[in-house]
Amino acid sequence: MSQRYAKITGWGKYVPARVVTNDDLAKIVDTSDEWITTRTGIRERRLRTENDTTATMSAAAGREALASAGISARDLDLIIVASSSPDYLLPSVASQVQDMLGASCGAFTLVAGCAGWVYALATANQFIIAGTYNRILVIGAEVISFALDWTDRTTCVLFGDAAAATVVEATDEPGGVLAIELGSDGSGAMALYVPDGGCVSPITQRTVDERRQYLRMNGPEVFKFAVRTLASSLKRTIYQAGLTPDDIDLYIPHQANARIIETAARQLRVPLDKFYINIDRYGNTSAASVPLAMVEAIEEGRLKEGDLVALCAFGAGLTWASVVMQMGTGEISPAHSLFSLGRARYLARRTSDALLDTAQAAMLPLYSFLYERRKKK
Ligand SMILES: CC(C)(COP(=O)(O)OP(=O)(O)OC[C@H]1O[C@@H](n2cnc3c(N)ncnc32)[C@H](O)[C@@H]1OP(=O)(O)O)[C@@H](O)C(=O)NCCC(=O)NCCS
Repeated sequence: MSQRYAKITGWGKYVPARVVTNDDLAKIVDTSDEWITTRTGIRERRLRTENDTTATMSAAAGREALASAGISARDLDLIIVASSSPDYLLPSVASQVQDMLGASCGAFTLVAGCAGWVYALATANQFIIAGTYNRILVIGAEVISFALDWTDRTTCVLFGDAAAATVVEATDEPGGVLAIELGSDGSGAMALYVPDGGCVSPITQRTVDERRQYLRMNGPEVFKFAVRTLASSLKRTIYQAGLTPDDIDLYIPHQANARIIETAARQLRVPLDKFYINIDRYGNTSAASVPLAMVEAIEEGRLKEGDLVALCAFGAGLTWASVVMQMGTGEISPAHSLFSLGRARYLARRTSDALLDTAQAAMLPLYSFLYERRKKK
């Protein structure tokens, strides 16, 4: 069998019609537009209307992606839905979506927090390069609002509901997914979790009284994890693809906090305008965040056939995942030739990045200290 590659051939999104601004939230919790905007970059988010569920939103995004790829649901070999907010504990939301779309293929849900869709894309890539499947629908969808405590200002202002989908198809032309990295650090699990509702602590009257069925987060801990992870995982994956950070046409990071994205841009030494940002309009839509940003980047013409794109998401688990890919197919010229100028540039950048990473890691406690001191003033 000749070498196979996985490329994205279709895309679609579904965002609920209900727009909720920071000023709207200031009416229900003690917060302000100024606090939310300066600390996170979020101005508004979408919250589901009464007819939206994770399955219906997934199916809507999926239909749009199938139409844009010019295929029908019957052509699909597999559906993967990344979500941490399924309609039911059982059955898997992916089976509901398979039925709603009228597909006749396998379907499963993948849970990896906000990193879920990037995990799912990497999984689809493996099914394709192994020769198992040719056409896979990869969806990221969340009705995360149902898991939020709407009396807790430290979490409820951050998230939003959305779904986005891509069709991933096999090709024998080089391109598509070039490199992946999947990561997990379960020692940080309690930094972002839902205490009750699983088998350790099923729902009881106490759960409801103490609001333990809702998401709890240690924001500063997750912030530090994100800052440590985003740029370093992107770098490793970009180098694995034989590229340098300068070669990437567009970065699509998880939209959790604009400050995290700005820090990653500085650490990668690439201009911020190479990062696609739509957190101002949607907040953190968890597993839908990266695919939603990717779909909007394509719609706005910021991501075109042949472009190199680097994706990275992080979240509950704690997990992270990065993918470096080329949109469509075509020749790429990474620094593969052993004695070329490109190769020399690649090695120089890689070495200087390694030195800078070590210096930045050593400085991190000082930065955290200075940031905390500034906040207290
Ligand atoms: C959540 C986050 C925005 C908080 O920003 P921060 O600068 O770290 O703020 P802190 O949590 O230290 O809180 C600072 C103060 O603001 C207050 N505060 C928290 N949320 C607030 C809100 N919505 N409105 C007003 N004040 C708020 C806190 O109570 C605290 O007050 P205090 O100093 O009197 O105790 C930030 O930590 C973050 O983005 N973390 C990562 C979150 C993330 O990415 N999660 C998803 C991962 S997938």
